[in-house]
Amino acid sequence: MRILGLVGSQRKDGNSYLILKEALEGFEAEMEIIQLAEVNVKWCDACGLCKSTMRCVIEDDVEFIFNKMKEADVVIISTPRYLPIPSKFMALIERIGALYHYYSETDPNFKFPLEGKPFGLLVVSAGGGRQALEALKELAFQVIHCWRMKLVTVDSYPYLGVLAKGEEVGEVLEDEGAIDQARKLIKKLMI
Ligand SMILES: Cc1cc2nc3c(=O)[nH]c(=O)nc-3n(C[C@H](O)[C@H](O)[C@H](O)COP(=O)(O)O)c2cc1C
Repeated sequence: MRILGLVGSQRKDGNSYLILKEALEGFEAEMEIIQLAEVNVKWCDACGLCKSTMRCVIEDDVEFIFNKMKEADVVIISTPRYLPIPSKFMALIERIGALYHYYSETDPNFKFPLEGKPFGLLVVSAGGGRQALEALKELAFQVIHCWRMKLVTVDSYPYLGVLAKGEEVGEVLEDEGAIDQARKLIKKLMI
């Protein structure tokens, strides 16, 4: 079982990373965490050159991330609430989503490499309330729609994923309820 963690924050080793790392503790699996803070992700230029190749011509780390996602059995995304999520993470959704979008014009029947791959969501925010829920809904929609992945839900509110509360770095580790819910989600993802 290979688990890939994708951390959407530009704040390296911030709350989104800390809760994911804490929740993964003790699970027997091959694990890797990619923090977007440590990689280079440019936005999509909509050049369409990937139309026949499903490869992007922009030289940055997106192909590396896409390959890691393809190799993983499950992906767990942990990101802060911004407006609604960090723009760098939106750029990653765009870039990988564009590969699907353009290639499906060439071959409408092709199977995208991420199609049906299970993923789970953690969203950290200062308030932990409605704004975080909006980020969770938007993120779930975009990943399902643009990457064709299969959302694994949690068994209690807010069902689409886990909402954790924290603002200063480390504060999220006080949210024991969210950590417990994140562990249950990882267990479900590993089935
Ligand atoms: C640009 C920006 C926008 C934010 N917007 C919100 C928001 O709308 N609601 C909220 O509760 N927290 C908001 N936050 C707070 C972060 O979600 C919070 O500090 C989180 O712990 C950051 O996670 P990180 O340490 O992984 O970066 C925002 C933070 C930044 C930098």
